[in-house]
Amino acid sequence: MVNLCNIDGVITQEPAGRVPVSDRGFLFGDSVYEVIRVHDGTPLFWDEHWSRLSRSAAGLMMALDVDEHVIARRIHETVTAADHGDSYVRVVVTRGVGDAPNIDLAYANSPQTWVILVRPLELAAGKPVHLRIVERVRNDRRALDPAVKSGNYLNNVLALAEARSQGATDCVMLNTDGAVTEASTANLFALRQGAWCTPPLGAGILAGITRRAILDLLAEDGQRVCEHPLTREDLMAADELFLCSTLRDISPVSHLDGRPMNSSSRTASLSHLFTEHLRRQRTERDMPRWRELLDGSR
Ligand code: PDD
Repeated sequence: MVNLCNIDGVITQEPAGRVPVSDRGFLFGDSVYEVIRVHDGTPLFWDEHWSRLSRSAAGLMMALDVDEHVIARRIHETVTAADHGDSYVRVVVTRGVGDAPNIDLAYANSPQTWVILVRPLELAAGKPVHLRIVERVRNDRRALDPAVKSGNYLNNVLALAEARSQGATDCVMLNTDGAVTEASTANLFALRQGAWCTPPLGAGILAGITRRAILDLLAEDGQRVCEHPLTREDLMAADELFLCSTLRDISPVSHLDGRPMNSSSRTASLSHLFTEHLRRQRTERDMPRWRELLDGSR
């Protein structure tokens, strides 16, 4: 089985995929991206991913230069050619090849570079997480806003490396005010006094699509939820913790700073509820929407 990529509309085998050395994505991390799950040809939460990609680009003063229908068709063609069944799809948009290796946007006059990576889907759903609260803080909203899913993930790369060097499998970063933000590539929920609580967007986090879907599902199910700032002590006192993302769904935290968590039973029930929800949503919402987009791209 071979991994494929699509570079500006041309499908090639991933190891042979090339982006020019003067591409600003390579030189400066001047890019945005999305990681999307595709089940049997249908991306989950396509509208949410496309709209976050556009918002991320706007956050970097980039207006996307290829239409949504064109990208939907490229994804469809690449996923079909790769034939993995369920696929991991990463859409990366860089500000393109610069006229010179100079950060000044005056040198960015080329079209954007659009890369789509397609690999077999490997979900980490349900996999217990050893979490560590790391020293490295999440980048401040006034710097590179964490709400922008940019190609510059070095802060998270190093935070994860810090957690790994201490025997954990993922990290929690605090913000510059000492409030809890999120994990390296996932959002975080804590069960406190019977309510599921997650840091607000204002804490400086990515607006996770899974996080939003879980908040809505919990509310619909009549469970108590809140978006509220959390402290390190709140995490320590939590009854249960879990991480959530496109690739994790819901993953229970089994250890926090080396200490075992007492329980993950509410997390396990929520996880079942969420899996069911995704299955329903895929047939009732995601499949017709994707069909409509592809029909519109002919
Ligand atoms: N990451 N927070 C960060 C920093 C993330 O990178 C991600 C997703 C999330 C969860 O967002 P969502 O539920 O929309 O996947 C939160 C993807 C999966 C990645 O970069 O691999």
